[in-house]
Amino acid sequence: MAAFTIAIDGPAAAGKGTISKAVAAHFGAAHLDTGLLYRAVGARMLAGETPGAAAQALQAEDLENSALRSAEVAQAASEVAVLPEVRAALLTFQREFARRDGGAVLDGRDIGTVICPNAEAKLFVTANAEVRARRRFAELQERGASTDFARVLADVKARDHRDSTRADAPLKAAADSVVIDTSDMDIDAAVAAAIEAVQARL
Ligand code: CDP
Repeated sequence: MAAFTIAIDGPAAAGKGTISKAVAAHFGAAHLDTGLLYRAVGARMLAGETPGAAAQALQAEDLENSALRSAEVAQAASEVAVLPEVRAALLTFQREFARRDGGAVLDGRDIGTVICPNAEAKLFVTANAEVRARRRFAELQERGASTDFARVLADVKARDHRDSTRADAPLKAAADSVVIDTSDMDIDAAVAAAIEAVQARL
């Protein structure tokens, strides 16, 4: 099948991951969670590396690291994500992935605006901060992390603020994206809405 790109952006813990996987499976496309790239650079920074050099040295194995999902790495990811040299180092890999045969779903913050402005379909998945923090809190608890809700909410808000106000590729909905607010949707409803919106564009 020819290449096509589905861009899915939105703030932390809005449900992009689950939605992106389901959309990719539905359309038979490959999926790239671009947040993992920034998380992997963040993890290397926490281990003492310079972020720009870490981004250039990134290997596929970096993405297998199970520690990438921790709250600490999430914050480090959003810190390295403000650096233009980090974003530049990750650009080519993402663009090549986006044009692979059979189609690609990329989820992140700047896919529809900067990485793939010509994507065939663009979604902006969002939800209010309380709802997102509740979801992330449940996820972290399930993985056995010791944390409290107030802390998770503060982390989500801090990351949203940093992601939205940075100069290079800030988090924002592309003008031609379909906005899906999942605050009052369960995951099945959110996935159905996403598939319907993509179908209408492809
Ligand atoms: O899963 P969650 O939504 O919490 O975060 P993520 O998608 O794994 O992204 C982690 C961090 O990486 C974000 O807070 C952003 O700062 C950064 N990021 C980015 O700048 N651009 C992307 N395309 C993806 C992630």
